[in-house]
Amino acid sequence: MIKYEEYDCLLNLAKKRRTVRQFKPDAVPEGYIEKIIEVARWAPSGFHTQPWEFVVVKKKDVREAIIAALDRYAPPITNTDPGGDPSDAPQRSFRDAPVFIILLADWRAKAGLPGHPTEIDMRVNSIYSSSLASAFLYLHLAAASLGLTSQWYSATSRPEAEREIRSIIGIPEPMTIYDMMVLGYPAAPLKPKQVRELAGMVHYDDCGPQNFRTDEQVLADSRKTWEWCMSEHLRS
Ligand SMILES: Cc1cc2nc3c(=O)[nH]c(=O)nc-3n(C[C@H](O)[C@H](O)[C@H](O)COP(=O)(O)O)c2cc1C
Repeated sequence: MIKYEEYDCLLNLAKKRRTVRQFKPDAVPEGYIEKIIEVARWAPSGFHTQPWEFVVVKKKDVREAIIAALDRYAPPITNTDPGGDPSDAPQRSFRDAPVFIILLADWRAKAGLPGHPTEIDMRVNSIYSSSLASAFLYLHLAAASLGLTSQWYSATSRPEAEREIRSIIGIPEPMTIYDMMVLGYPAAPLKPKQVRELAGMVHYDDCGPQNFRTDEQVLADSRKTWEWCMSEHLRS
C-alpha cells in the first residue's frame, strides 16, 4: 500500500494552523523563534529576491507601544453587517501574547527583478505581495508545527499605524511593514473551521460559467464566511 506520510503530515499541519486571537502570556520556549524564521527563510520569492527582514518583538515596553499605536489606528468594529470593513474588527486580545514578529519588505531588492526596476509599480507590488505572503505563511505553519499558535495581523500595514510602528522600532526608509504575526499559546478554544467543498472549487480543462458558482451563490457563501469570521473576532 502506498504511504503518504509527508502528505498526511502536511495536510494535518495545514488544518492545525489556525488564527488565534486570545493568547496566554506564557513565554515561547528558547530557540523556537529562530526555528520558525528558519522555515520562512526557505519560502519562494519572485526571482529569488528574498525581499524580507524579520523583526522579533519580545520586550514588554515595545509590545505595549505597538499595541497603543494599533489601539489608536485600528479601532474595534461597531458595524458587523456584511458591508462592514473586516479590518476594523476588534483585535485586542493579542495584547497578552509574548512575541510579535513583524515582516518587513525591503524594496531595494526589486533591483533583482527583470528589468531591474527603480520604481514600485503594480508588477513590482504584486511580486512583493506574493513573495512576502509566502514567507509569512511559512512562519505560521512553522509555528503550528511546534505546537504554538499565531494570528495574522494586517492592521499593522495601515498607513498611520505603519508610520508609528516604524518609528517605535526604528525601521529605515527603504523598508515597509508587510504584516505582523502574533505568536504564543491560545487562551481559548477555537471554533471548527468551515471550508468550501473540494468538488465545488476544482475545475478540469474546458470549463465555462456553468462550472463556477453563480453570483447568488457567491453572495450567500460570503454572508456565511462573514458571519463565521465575525463570530471569531467578536469572541476575542
Ligand atoms: C491577508 C490576511 C489578512 C488577515 N488579517 C487579519 C487581521 O488583521 N486580524 C485577524 O485577527 N486575522 C486576520 N487574518 C486571519 C483570517 O481572518 C483567518 O485566516 C480566516 O478567518 C480563516 O481562519 P483560520 O486562519 O483560523 O484558518 C488575515 C488573514 C489573511 C490571509
